[in-house]
Amino acid sequence: MDFKTLNKHSYVPYSGNARSCVVRSTDGGYFPGVRVENISYPLTIGRIQSALFSCLGAGKRPETIIFPEDPGAEELMPYWLAEYGINAEVNSSFSFEPEPLILKDKLSDNEIFDTLSELCEMAVTPNSDFQVSALLEVENGYIPGVNVECSNWELGICAERVAISRAVSLGYKSLGNMYVMAPKSDYVSPCGACRQVLMEHLPAGRIVLHQNDNHTMSVTSSQLLPYHFGGEVLKKK
Ligand code: THU
Repeated sequence: MDFKTLNKHSYVPYSGNARSCVVRSTDGGYFPGVRVENISYPLTIGRIQSALFSCLGAGKRPETIIFPEDPGAEELMPYWLAEYGINAEVNSSFSFEPEPLILKDKLSDNEIFDTLSELCEMAVTPNSDFQVSALLEVENGYIPGVNVECSNWELGICAERVAISRAVSLGYKSLGNMYVMAPKSDYVSPCGACRQVLMEHLPAGRIVLHQNDNHTMSVTSSQLLPYHFGGEVLKKK
């Protein structure tokens, strides 16, 4: 994949400003990240956060962020570089093979349960010690997500949104159902911010919540977020 292709994966209907970068992990894996906007602008996931959290949520250590153009001081660059002790590189002609994050087999309900349970071990939760895992259905499999926290609480992202930003970064346009597990929770239910992001990317999908008394609860995004903030008026293109 090259930056021309990756940039096109950006979800930027509100600004039109496609943005992408790639994180290289210490073991040589490549994790693409694109800007994933939301109709509620402050819920936008920046390209750096998207790529870094994809890497961290796969249990890898980031080493370098590669940009197609000089990023300047945008998107909290100094914070991210210091947080992980990493470097930034500019290389517009860089091409790479993304780390294969997708699980390609069709999973049974039991396999979804087992996969979600195993995935919780990948959660990065230095602040909360509260692990959450998500699996997002795409046309040829499932994209995993876990919650990733960092030193700044405001910059962590929930498992649901890590799965969505990974799927968008990998170029998936149509997202299916989402499965969520949080073993330490009394009651599993996506946070308000995730509901708004689910509404944007999974308007018709079902969210299957794995409750800890072994039953699942399947709801739609609009059941989770009735009277949601929406509309076309903010879209630029
Ligand atoms: N969290 C999720 O990953 N998903 C949710 O739906 C609720 C909250 C994470 C975010 C943070 O890492 C920790 O749980 C505590 O809020």
